[in-house]
Amino acid sequence: MQLPDLKEARKRTSKEILIKTNDYIVKENLKELGLGKKYYIKTYGCQMNVHDSENIKAILEDMSFEETDQFEDADVILLNTCAIRENAHNKVFGFLGRVKHLKQTHPHIITGVCGCMAQEENVVKEIKSKYKWVDIVFGTHNIYNLPNILFDSMTKNEQEIEVFSIEGDVLENIPVKRDSKYKAWVNIMYGCDKFCTYCIVPYTRGKQRSRTPEYIINEVKELVKNGYKEVTLLGQNVNAYGKDLKIDYKMGDLLRDVAKTGIERIRFMTSHPWDFDDDMINAIKDYDNIMPYVHLPLQSGSDRILKLMGRRYTKEKYLTLYNKLKEIPNVAITTDIIVGFPGETEDDFKETLDVVQKCQYDSAFTFIFSPREGTPAAKMEDNVPLEEKNERLYRLNEIVNKYANLNNQKYLGQTVKVLIESIGEKGNLFGYTETMKLVNVDGKQENIGKIVNVKITDIKTWSLDGEIVA
Ligand code: 5AD
Ligand code: SF4
Repeated sequence: MQLPDLKEARKRTSKEILIKTNDYIVKENLKELGLGKKYYIKTYGCQMNVHDSENIKAILEDMSFEETDQFEDADVILLNTCAIRENAHNKVFGFLGRVKHLKQTHPHIITGVCGCMAQEENVVKEIKSKYKWVDIVFGTHNIYNLPNILFDSMTKNEQEIEVFSIEGDVLENIPVKRDSKYKAWVNIMYGCDKFCTYCIVPYTRGKQRSRTPEYIINEVKELVKNGYKEVTLLGQNVNAYGKDLKIDYKMGDLLRDVAKTGIERIRFMTSHPWDFDDDMINAIKDYDNIMPYVHLPLQSGSDRILKLMGRRYTKEKYLTLYNKLKEIPNVAITTDIIVGFPGETEDDFKETLDVVQKCQYDSAFTFIFSPREGTPAAKMEDNVPLEEKNERLYRLNEIVNKYANLNNQKYLGQTVKVLIESIGEKGNLFGYTETMKLVNVDGKQENIGKIVNVKITDIKTWSLDGEIVA
């Protein structure tokens, strides 16, 4: 049993980051462990988690398990969890309640909790004491060892908990079963060293570790060969890419090299304003296959709150960067904002509204501050009543929605390129523009996987409607 330890998770040393190419092994006797059995994974949270689930799926299939999208049919049920806010916790424990019910009539089912919540001391304590029927718990650094964890759980009659609280290395031989045949997530770095005071990620994901350019470029080349149209380069803080490598190679260099592979669309997320340099902006301008879409988290518009958050930029610096980004032709910019950070006054909040009014974002993800145990902000005195936080969120969303709608208006009557992804619930096709606008399209199924010209016929606040034109 290896339990998480927040103190250990917080540590940053000068220990060399290793590139490991043979840590993942499925022993001969485990390759058919899942024969005739099914697995179900429920994924919460960000794209990083979505991509981790793609790794977990491939590992389970290496053991002959088959995927099912009905948890009632599964022999193995895994919840890949998110720790970013309290409501993510509540959803997981809610779903575990449903699984418990199922387990009463199907006791052979193996239930597992993995992902960021598994890295939290208090969560694992709770699972150990109140959810004894959960069979396995494994952390974000332990995915490679899932075959052995699963085998131990099937052969021993005890809860298997394996959560490393380490800085982490870069594992290069983990298989992947991608959810899409057209769009792929490509990790370019893991972890985060920014330690924004509200954020749990540096504790759950370890230190910043960039993959080397060779591995990334080869992965993208392979995707091009296999017909993929779009890659999203993933990291908690992609602008800092390369800073931990011993070579002089930064995000701008990587963007250019990925662009040269000829992949039709390149996206990247998430950015931190701190490391966004001019070279990166120029790379986006220089290459048509780097999409004109930037997610640039603001978090707050108040210098005082930004300082308390440890964000290391001011409102003015943010706006300067924003204005530079706006010079990218047709660019769309979205953001993340937290309201109700400890001690946020009405004046602080007005500064945030002021930035939103100036930036007129294409859209924004808005959150009420959620204290995360072990982070500095969780210990700050929080004297803002919840009612006030709710009211601020409401006021903020009103303005965010207004500008989202206004930005969409510009598209009416325009013809834009859309990568058609799939069929929606109402039988329509849907896909995304270069600027990441969701478009619902009437059209034939044969367009799925193609980039087509779409004339926009109607607009909504969060999506566009259109028809395919030649
Ligand atoms: N409370 C509320 N929102 C948070 N985020 C991160 N941590 C917290 C927290 N403790 C938000 C930030 C981040 C996004 C992914 O989630 O806005 O950019
Ligand atoms: Fe969290 Fe800040 Fe790192 Fe983003 S940059 S993952 S908000 S600590």
